[in-house]
Amino acid sequence: MKALTVLGIETSCDETAAAVVRGQAPGPGKILSNVVFSQLELHAPFGGVVPEIAARAHVERLDAIIEAALDEAEVALSEMDAIAATAGPGLIGGVMVGLTTAKALALGASKPLIAINHLEAHALTARLTDGVAFPFLLLLISGGHCQLLGVKGVGEYRPYGTTIDDAVGEAFDKAAKLAGLPYPGGPGIESLAARGNASRYALPRPMRGRASADFSFSGLKTAVRQIVRSETVVTEDLAASFQAAVIDCITDRTHAAMAMFRSDFAEVACPSLVVAGGVAANHAIREALLRLATEEGFQTKIPPPKLCTDNAAMVAWAGVERGQLGLFDSSGIGPKARWPLAPADPGGTGSADALGAPDGGTSARRKRD
Ligand code: KG4
Ligand code: ZN
Repeated sequence: MKALTVLGIETSCDETAAAVVRGQAPGPGKILSNVVFSQLELHAPFGGVVPEIAARAHVERLDAIIEAALDEAEVALSEMDAIAATAGPGLIGGVMVGLTTAKALALGASKPLIAINHLEAHALTARLTDGVAFPFLLLLISGGHCQLLGVKGVGEYRPYGTTIDDAVGEAFDKAAKLAGLPYPGGPGIESLAARGNASRYALPRPMRGRASADFSFSGLKTAVRQIVRSETVVTEDLAASFQAAVIDCITDRTHAAMAMFRSDFAEVACPSLVVAGGVAANHAIREALLRLATEEGFQTKIPPPKLCTDNAAMVAWAGVERGQLGLFDSSGIGPKARWPLAPADPGGTGSADALGAPDGGTSARRKRD
């Protein structure tokens, strides 16, 4: 297979990003440029991402960011093999901006268009960085996603677990807000937790011990709210207690998914656990997952934080992988607010493994997937 050079565009949440990546499956690939403009400061006063502000900021910045990505890569648009853009799931206004721009560039430069599922882009990042072989177990933990999946191949996913309410990053953000910390809450909680007493506040571990690998964080958030309302808290201790509860939940749920992965892929002797998403930047969580993986005979691959959080290099790489399989899209393809990677398994047997149809129903109430 020939190496492909792909321009990637990401606008599904609050990062406006463009990147150029060159490579071929299974990776690793070469990141020629990776330009990210974080809109964090625009949204911080509101305590969360405001969709209208995000869409407007994408419109204002995207052209210059694409230009910067091409300049830095020292590759002209005419030299691209394809243009890839996130087509969902995400905030619809932002996705529209990126996808429409990609369509215009593809049309103008006579290049093929590749519509990328944002979750697939996160899922395949460990191939861009480390050339991780299929199949692998993926734990995707960010502000919008919280999933455990078996990744069999491009477009082939086996759903093991998902959150029935909040995503884990969302739980960090909500707990931080209750404790009077700024948005996004994860980094603040992590640094306070480092000097706090994790056993001071008794917090629940929702779903622990369940046979499924699903997550739930709303009970944890409610418990934090009750504590904050009923007493003057020691913020460091609350942060440490909260983080310890989250770690217990994540490791327990990942442990359950490891058993499912083992039974699905018994032939894989030393499988990989890939962790992606902004929450994977948390050192205590990384260490706990490393310990669990070592105990269970999995090798852990966690891309560097810059590639764990939203970026366009992962979108360009997903474009490389899909492009090599001839999976191009027509300009008629539309943006999707919801686009599950694997459709919910109606029989509960864990046998669903295709990339879900665009807009295929999902029971999740999350904002992103
Ligand atoms: O992947 P990301 O940048 O954006 C999406 O949500 O897609 O993830 C952002 C989330 C936020 O909820 C933030 O609080 C959380 O990741 N986060 C962390 C840490 N750094 C970011 N959570 C825990 N510990 C951290 N160090
Ligand atoms: Zn993301």
